[in-house]
Amino acid sequence: MSALSCMRYFNLHRRQGCVLLAVVTLLWLVTILNLNSSAVIHGRTEHIKLEIVKLSEQYIRALARDNEGVVDGPYAGRFTAYDLKKTMAVLLENILERLDKVEHELNITANVSSHTQGHRSKEPSLLAKDLINGEPEQCILSDKEKQLYPKCEGKIQWMKQMWQSDPCYASYGVDGSMCSFIMYLSEVEGWCPRSAWRGSSLMPTKDYTDSEHANITTDLDGLMQLLKDPNERQGYAWIRMRIKRIWPRWEAAIRNLAKTQDMTQRKPKKILIHLGLLSKQSGWKFAEMQFKGGPLGELVQWSDLITALYVLGHHLTITSEADQLGSIVSQLPAANSPCQSRKELPVHIIYIDIVGLKQFKKYVKTGYGKFSCLLRILDSFGTEPAFNLRSFAKRNKKLTSWGGQDLQPQQFFNMFPHSPDNSFMGFVVERHLNETNAKDIERNNHAVVYGKNDYMWKGKEEYLDIVNKSGLVIHGTVYKENQSKLENIPNYVINHGILNGEDLHTLLRQSKVFLGLGFPYEGPAPLEAIANGAVFINPKFDKPHNRNTAPFFKGKPTERELTSQHPYAEQFIGEPYVYTIDINNSEEVRTTIQKILDIDHFKGYLPYEYTEEGFIQRMNAYIEHQNFCQFQKQLTKWPPESNVQILFGEAGKSCKQVCWEKNLICEPSHFLETNAHSALMTKGASCAANKTLIDIFYPALDTKTNDCILQQEELLFSCVGAQDHLRRLCPCRNYIKGQTALCTNCV
Ligand SMILES: *[C@@H]1O[C@H](CO)[C@@H](O)[C@H](O)[C@H]1NC(C)=O
Ligand SMILES: *[C@@H]1O[C@H](CO)[C@@H](O)[C@H](O)[C@H]1NC(C)=O
Ligand SMILES: *[C@@H]1O[C@H](CO)[C@@H](O)[C@H](O)[C@H]1NC(C)=O
Ligand SMILES: *[C@@H]1O[C@H](CO)[C@@H](O)[C@H](O)[C@H]1NC(C)=O
Ligand SMILES: *[C@@H]1O[C@H](CO)[C@@H](O)[C@H](O)[C@H]1NC(C)=O
Ligand SMILES: *[C@@H]1O[C@H](CO)[C@@H](O)[C@H](O)[C@H]1NC(C)=O
Ligand SMILES: *[C@@H]1O[C@H](CO)[C@@H](O)[C@H](O)[C@H]1NC(C)=O
Ligand SMILES: *[C@@H]1O[C@H](CO)[C@@H](O)[C@H](O)[C@H]1NC(C)=O
Ligand SMILES: *[C@@H]1O[C@H](CO)[C@@H](O)[C@H](O)[C@H]1NC(C)=O
Repeated sequence: MSALSCMRYFNLHRRQGCVLLAVVTLLWLVTILNLNSSAVIHGRTEHIKLEIVKLSEQYIRALARDNEGVVDGPYAGRFTAYDLKKTMAVLLENILERLDKVEHELNITANVSSHTQGHRSKEPSLLAKDLINGEPEQCILSDKEKQLYPKCEGKIQWMKQMWQSDPCYASYGVDGSMCSFIMYLSEVEGWCPRSAWRGSSLMPTKDYTDSEHANITTDLDGLMQLLKDPNERQGYAWIRMRIKRIWPRWEAAIRNLAKTQDMTQRKPKKILIHLGLLSKQSGWKFAEMQFKGGPLGELVQWSDLITALYVLGHHLTITSEADQLGSIVSQLPAANSPCQSRKELPVHIIYIDIVGLKQFKKYVKTGYGKFSCLLRILDSFGTEPAFNLRSFAKRNKKLTSWGGQDLQPQQFFNMFPHSPDNSFMGFVVERHLNETNAKDIERNNHAVVYGKNDYMWKGKEEYLDIVNKSGLVIHGTVYKENQSKLENIPNYVINHGILNGEDLHTLLRQSKVFLGLGFPYEGPAPLEAIANGAVFINPKFDKPHNRNTAPFFKGKPTERELTSQHPYAEQFIGEPYVYTIDINNSEEVRTTIQKILDIDHFKGYLPYEYTEEGFIQRMNAYIEHQNFCQFQKQLTKWPPESNVQILFGEAGKSCKQVCWEKNLICEPSHFLETNAHSALMTKGASCAANKTLIDIFYPALDTKTNDCILQQEELLFSCVGAQDHLRRLCPCRNYIKGQTALCTNCV
């Protein structure tokens, strides 16, 4: 062991480490001096040894005393042991001198004198005296390190140009030298390996103590305190009501879950939740409209998210107005600084919506980069990679006010599991009636129409007439302001106005059919109806609805093609709970209604993923496993590789299709493994030419040219997207039936 490589082992990061340092140094000294016991024969040696030990001991004691309360070199407060290195170097010079003396006296040719010419070890390292003289260390990335930290080199290049752009870099000790870049990028931002400058890999990276655990919390009052209205706008009133109503089920769900899986080893996370949709600035009047038939899907999702995070025992901060957010953000250390310390992050996760995100960006300004990997965006309808990557979207004229966020696609959380590029959050389908109080409700020949607003009924008279003629009594729950006339509601419809949940569910339990009108798309109501045993008539679209054909999807960052009003009900539930039919086809409507009227036992069905327990399980898995601040290539991936298969699709099919046809789900977090010519060649591609391009279809084989094409831009890995002549290489994972988001051992 050379003296200097030994010195590197003392790269301690804590001042208290001096004590340890002393002990380790002594042990080392003793080892060195015992190197060849047969050589140590003179009583004289014993004396020298003792002298060295005594002096060194004193030296180290003094050192330890000195270092108490000492700022640690240019990497102030970062415990990079910069000054310790210097003092260690002095110490070692001392020791080396003494060793020379010992060597000389005993004529030991111990291999420790690396400071003599021609004895430098293979790795370039600094000599103690150089270090004392302030010469920079050599920091070199090995090829292996470059592979493990793919972003490191790019970040170094950026630092070279930009380190003076903000004083925060200098405050972390960046001085323009290569080593200072690498030290900063490894220590503060985490993009580079610490080993490149021989940093200790033992450095703690968590800012909470390991002993603290997230405790399951079932204290409703505590949650209500968090949801006190900050203003007079009743912003959270609807959310509070929903949480209180469902509370007993949430309690039962978390208890039950804790019985079936280990919930004890989780760390409490600090989570910021900002409901931009409720803010005055959004201009959406969500807060005002929540009791008047306004769109509630998003509020449902926010209520459930907040509740799940709370019962899981995480620490929540909830805001809904931009100025509240501003005051919180301005308290975050260095919110306006581009230096991104992963250790000083004041929050671990930020749940927000697109409206809120715009406000958030305004308040954190240049500090945004530091927070962006913490973001989880509630995004009901999905954001596809092609719209997410700003430069690409712009070039392809797809940039909308919703897209272009340059986040990782999985940072977007959807209402339904429709876009595998995003994450599926979902919500809880409320059950207002339990088996006991629902027992006596008699099911009649009633149909309830899915459409809270008059305009949704426009042009549907023919369809409703057929239903009316088939003998079903049609009920509506259309919002009616003042005594305004409802123009599109046929007069045989019994309109109840907006019903409260319990009354609505009672009505559904009294009914056999829940009639979709084609709009709104993908709401929660059909799931409630199905859970209450009413059969959902799901309007099939002759031509799929998308952003080009449906005003609702215009400008939304997705090319998704809706084949019916409720694709989830169509694909994941199906008959006998759901009939997806053409409602313009009178015959089909008539026969379907007849089929339903022939049923003699109506049974409700609720997929596990839409229950409280399923929701908590899913969110918990995400919180424990998803990490978008991963700078290093992950060694242990989630979902684990054992659940993933790489499939070589047929030409013209998207990965979403390719996986789904094998009853699997496209898993974007494993695209990286597919992005190699060798991966295509193992699947039989001959690769006439190797190319790397920027578009959503790659990696793929071009069947016209036999070219193998890889993806250049990782943010463009996309489950969707197909071209006639391309065979895509797709990562597909298995899933738990009823818990689509999780692979079979991802819980
Ligand atoms: C000590 O040195 C002798 C030769 O001088 C060698 O034979 C022996 O193996 C050495 N012992 C140790 C423990 O290195
Ligand atoms: C040390 O030993 C080597 C042979 O092992 C010899 O050549 C050299 O002269 C000796 N040096 C001293 C100072 O005794
Ligand atoms: C010194 O150590 C190096 C590697 O640790 C070894 O390769 C070399 O042979 C040693 N030299 C002597 C003289 O023992
Ligand atoms: C969890 O409970 C333990 C024991 O009651 C307590 O010490 C700990 O602080 C709690 N953790 C949190 C995050 O509240
Ligand atoms: C069903 O709900 C009623 C209140 O609506 C409650 O009193 C009763 O205990 C519940 N029964 C069960 C089995 O949960
Ligand atoms: C609706 O049904 C009722 C009773 O079945 C019937 O009297 C009425 O004519 C029907 N209306 C239309 C427009 O079909
Ligand atoms: C309902 O009544 C309020 C005041 O009574 C009025 O401001 C509003 O315009 C009315 N709305 C409609 C749709 O008539
Ligand atoms: C039904 O017909 C209307 C107009 O006749 C048309 O606009 C609509 O797209 C059709 N719907 C379906 C599902 O075919
Ligand atoms: C493409 O890349 C693979 C793997 O690196 C290699 O084996 C093959 O020879 C390359 N093909 C061409 C045409 O360069």
